[in-house]
Amino acid sequence: MVKEKFRLETMPKILAIDTSCDDSSAAIVEGKVVLSNIVASQNQIHKKYGGVFPTLAKQAHKENIDPAINLAMKQAKVSWMEIDAIAVTVGPGLAPALEVGIEKAKELAFKYGKKLIAVNHIEAHALSPLALANGENGEKKSELEKNLPALALVISGGHSEFILIDKIGHYQKLGQTIDDAAGECLDKVGRLLNLGYPAGPLMEKFAKKGHLSKFTFPKAMTSQANFDLSFSGLKTSARNLIADLEKKKKLDKQAIYDLALALQEAVFEQIIYKLERILFSPDLSKHLYPDRNFMKHLDKDQIIPSEIEQIWLGGGVAANTNLRSKIRKLLRKYQQLSGKRIELKVPYSKKLCGDNAAMIGLVASFKFARGEFAKDDAKKNDLDRKPNLGI
Ligand code: KG4
Ligand code: ZN
Repeated sequence: MVKEKFRLETMPKILAIDTSCDDSSAAIVEGKVVLSNIVASQNQIHKKYGGVFPTLAKQAHKENIDPAINLAMKQAKVSWMEIDAIAVTVGPGLAPALEVGIEKAKELAFKYGKKLIAVNHIEAHALSPLALANGENGEKKSELEKNLPALALVISGGHSEFILIDKIGHYQKLGQTIDDAAGECLDKVGRLLNLGYPAGPLMEKFAKKGHLSKFTFPKAMTSQANFDLSFSGLKTSARNLIADLEKKKKLDKQAIYDLALALQEAVFEQIIYKLERILFSPDLSKHLYPDRNFMKHLDKDQIIPSEIEQIWLGGGVAANTNLRSKIRKLLRKYQQLSGKRIELKVPYSKKLCGDNAAMIGLVASFKFARGEFAKDDAKKNDLDRKPNLGI
């Protein structure tokens, strides 16, 4: 029988590959420990388009993936002999981009006689806070997955999802964006402001120089009795505001800072609002949705503490310090009201927030322990590209 848990020194060494979007990444992990994590960014290529151009992404992946793998092996000081399996993202993502990573993983697995593991990119973002830095004494952190259920927030350029995790490998999606993802909204408005791609990091920087209440955007989805999100209306409001400011010749530097702050606030406040609803819903399996004023009118002894033990934050937007502090503030408020302490866990480095192969290797380590290897035969092909794969 394959044991779910195994000691660090017997952990498998896995080569992981991610080419799901615009970053070509290769990493070596040993269990949850990241030995190397190489990310070859294509930002310079896609900058002029204000978004990812799929055929160019494919071409760049083809050029970058071998050097990325070689460097990952070199930095981790591992030989092919020591590699126990090769993991690759099979979806979701851009089909032509996914294909490059999958083909490379198959080629190497055949050449070196290694097992393959197919990984879901969203699951990888969700579990990314579990990754351990090389040399880190991970005793405390490595226990994270024992304290479940956790609520994973995957907030990136392609996804904005709330995922309840009661066991690694068992996921229940509580809510998600019904249109654009949070990062996509920041990027699209950034494009209108000529901020380059991706705009999220610059938005964060500009927002720090902005004045609050200069501009405000309506908070979406507040009347909806669910945990879903929506950001496309926000993008339209921002577009109209930008056009208006341009017409009045008022789109100066400070107006851009103020706009960045207002937009960031609106995106994050919506996420916080739905997170609050999740925490105060006594029975998540029944999806109860207290109304907006629920907290104000609540007696302490009326609150049934949430079953959620931890919040795991992953995805490119998780790098944003303002989003992290808003979540921590909510959790403090929640503790005051409910008496229950829920901790926010984020990846140990910002590099693990954006797309990277180390998080793919992390998921693969759990799959390795469960003996979940990819089948690639006439009956079942786990290694097909799955551009629309969900969790
Ligand atoms: O996870 P990721 O690299 O790719 C996807 O799977 O989508 O996320 C990229 C997204 C982009 O939209 C980018 O603008 C956003 O993450 N992002 C940020 C920050 N850093 C990256 N958004 C807000 N603040 C940041 N510091
Ligand atoms: Zn991603």
